[in-house]
Amino acid sequence: MIKYHKVSKVYSRQDKAVLKDINLEIQEREFVTLVGYSGAGKSTLLKMIYAEERPTSGDVYFYKTKINKLSRRKLPKHRQQIGTVFQDYKLLPQKNVWQNVAFAMEVAGKSEEEIAEDVPQIIDIVGLKNKSHKYPEELSGGEQQKVALARALVNRPKILVADEPTGNLDPISTWEIMQLLLKINEYGTTVVLATHDKDVVNRIARRVISMDKGKIIKDDAHGRYCI
Ligand SMILES: Nc1ncnc2c1ncn2[C@@H]1O[C@H](COP(=O)(O)OP(=O)(O)O)[C@@H](O)[C@H]1O
Ligand SMILES: [Mg+2]
Repeated sequence: MIKYHKVSKVYSRQDKAVLKDINLEIQEREFVTLVGYSGAGKSTLLKMIYAEERPTSGDVYFYKTKINKLSRRKLPKHRQQIGTVFQDYKLLPQKNVWQNVAFAMEVAGKSEEEIAEDVPQIIDIVGLKNKSHKYPEELSGGEQQKVALARALVNRPKILVADEPTGNLDPISTWEIMQLLLKINEYGTTVVLATHDKDVVNRIARRVISMDKGKIIKDDAHGRYCI
């Protein structure tokens, strides 16, 4: 469903390529972990999926669509098919849990009926049923990330891109978030997870793509963290 074809990236005002001739395919329903030192190019690679960065050369496909050729007008529709979560949860501080999740549906143009039906469901799935009316500052980091995850999933994206989602979390919350990622993958959503966390990668033992200095140095179907 995602395909990188000869993708290179040089950021403007820099001479060095941060991605070098990347060829990679990710299939529907896969759970892919992307590992590598800081600066390896993981985030740059992921940003191309939701069209926040474009390759300097090469193409990135979402099914048959060249993401890097999408017009500005078509970007919102494309991004609605991609869920994203990050190390910082990016919640709206003045909205409570329910409102944060509902807002993602409002922006996507969903009806009030759909919102009233889907928001409680997804909040229940991430285990925050009794915290719907709490504000972000009243929640732990792990709970805030669960809200971010609910928000990312509420529009039923085809693929979830998770860039270091457990980077700020303690081991217990990390594992709770990982359980949720595995669960949503079982429900059929493709998951692409960039992480530094060796234990997480080795424990889930899914496809591991190892990056170093802008290149894929290993791609292992049931891999271990080996950077
Ligand atoms: N917007 C940007 N402008 C210039 N250089 C950038 C930008 N974003 C990332 N880089 C550089 O690109 C390289 C790869 O970064 P990144 O994709 O964030 O790697 P990772 O996520 O593996 O840490 C790093 O050297 C980083 O400094
Ligand atoms: Mg990164």
